[in-house]
Amino acid sequence: MCGIIGILGHHEAAPLLVEALKRLEYRGYDSAGIATVNKGRLDRRRAVGKLVNLSDLLVHEPLAGKAGIGHTRWATHGVATVRNAHPHKAGPVAVVHNGIIENFRELRAEIAEAGYAFESETDTETVALLAQLYMARGMTPVEAARETLGRLHGAFALCFLFDGEEDLMIAARKGSPLAIGHGDGEMFVGSDAIALAPLTDRITYLEEGDWAVVTRKGAQIYDAAGRLANRSETRIQIDATRVEKAGYKHFMAKEIAEQPVVLADALKHYLTADGKALHLPGVDFTGVDRLTLVACGTASYACHVAKYWFERLAGLPVDVDVASEFRYREPPLSPASWAVFVSQSGETADTLAALRYAQDKVARTLAVVNVPTSSIARESDLALPILAGVEIGVASTKAFTCQLLVLALLALKAGRDRGVLDDAALAGHLETLGTLPGLMNHTLGLSADITRVAEKLAEAQDILFLGRGPMFPLALEGALKLKEISYIHAEGYASGELKHGPIALIDQHVPVIVLAPRDGLFDKTVSNMQEVMARHGKVLLLSDAAGVAEAGQGCWKTLTLPEVAEPFAPILYAIPAQLLAYHTAIAKGTDVDQPRNLAKSVTVE
Ligand code: AGP
Repeated sequence: MCGIIGILGHHEAAPLLVEALKRLEYRGYDSAGIATVNKGRLDRRRAVGKLVNLSDLLVHEPLAGKAGIGHTRWATHGVATVRNAHPHKAGPVAVVHNGIIENFRELRAEIAEAGYAFESETDTETVALLAQLYMARGMTPVEAARETLGRLHGAFALCFLFDGEEDLMIAARKGSPLAIGHGDGEMFVGSDAIALAPLTDRITYLEEGDWAVVTRKGAQIYDAAGRLANRSETRIQIDATRVEKAGYKHFMAKEIAEQPVVLADALKHYLTADGKALHLPGVDFTGVDRLTLVACGTASYACHVAKYWFERLAGLPVDVDVASEFRYREPPLSPASWAVFVSQSGETADTLAALRYAQDKVARTLAVVNVPTSSIARESDLALPILAGVEIGVASTKAFTCQLLVLALLALKAGRDRGVLDDAALAGHLETLGTLPGLMNHTLGLSADITRVAEKLAEAQDILFLGRGPMFPLALEGALKLKEISYIHAEGYASGELKHGPIALIDQHVPVIVLAPRDGLFDKTVSNMQEVMARHGKVLLLSDAAGVAEAGQGCWKTLTLPEVAEPFAPILYAIPAQLLAYHTAIAKGTDVDQPRNLAKSVTVE
């Protein structure tokens, strides 16, 4: 996902723009650039690769000016080159963009017809050229920007800057988030509050279809119908220091280590002071006949785990689907059902579109999100924050376990509301959840053992993860964590599925990671392990002491975790799965926090 920053300030904009782009690095990018207006003249600098390349360029070719825009690009149209990097400039217009302009080819033809030439392969350049074309026809910058916005189809967050205009930016939001920051006689535009945090804590989130004329005096915001809109200004809580690594080598390491604390925070938020009862105001499952859980990636695996919990603890039927399928499958939904959308960023395009599909078809929509001011939070009937704190590493870790916790609490609430759980059973489950922060702390101590195992895993070409019951989706998550940061091919399977094909993959070169607490399905999983070992597969067993004692014999390696009462083991076993991925990636020397080709939040389809 691209990052946008715009500044109309009292100080030189270039260093502030680069600093803000650093805070947006977590989104993933492959090129970056800034543009400023100085003494009426619009100019830009762009570089491929990491931000340090742009900073170096600015040392040799500085850009002056107190008005500027900046961008980190995650390539959608056109490879990562300087030519394709933003800001794109056409005559007196510069623009930065996050999203996809779906009708850019048609617009390119019109612009070429008018005699303008293109320098890049991007959809974004079309936006700058169209605005230039309208200005050449006599429109003012504001009129040209408004006319241009009216021609664009697709998803975009845009910020324009104009030659000769040292006190003007035009910002627009349609499908990709964009915020306006209020300073003291200064104004800012940014993709999110993290980018704006060092500049201001006063934020106005643009709504879908909004566009704004921004000057140092303030912002005039217009809604999709072109009417002046009154959008509220909020104070953000993001403490700029919280997006630092605080001594860890990577954000991912910090965020894995933070899990006991953030889970304890979430438990405090959703339980009564004595920890013995749920505190979920506004949530009553009485009369709810079905649940649909929708998400992408890691968040979707949290939903798959939760399906086991809702069905076992509440007797509530659950459908789970990845948002990119759900939104086009257009499933019939029961008007007495609820739909729950799980998203760390709260801005994932497919999940947001899925929410919009379901909105008028179910009794209620819930958002389980890490950003309470996000689009998915704001457009749902009820948003439940997971309180994981800012998550910078592209590989989701603490957000995943906090999503699991909130979903577990919802499943318990459903069980109580539907009379499947009595007070005693509920109290027992809450007590188990209350032990998790301590058990997680203990499990983090496995990091040294895991480092040694990871050095071996780093040599593998293919790795399998196996699990049964609620541990099966955790096998999928473990495989995703590993593949997305170490680039090793990894797959997760239901243990019982192995003999239906995947066992053909097994030989002495294939590590098989088995996630199996000593629960009611353990014996079945042990049989699957035997099948693997009989074919010289290398089994790494993750279990509790009883499980390792019973089935650890013959395994390549074992990792012993604390015992945790069913069915909440996936929350605890997520820790070693994350650590295995992290240390394997370290051994491989990959970019742990910003793995290749990935973005932290996918706000494009
Ligand atoms: C997780 O490690 C991945 N980076 C990715 O699958 C992520 O979970 C997915 O893109 C969904 O993001 P969201 O939770 O912000 O919606």
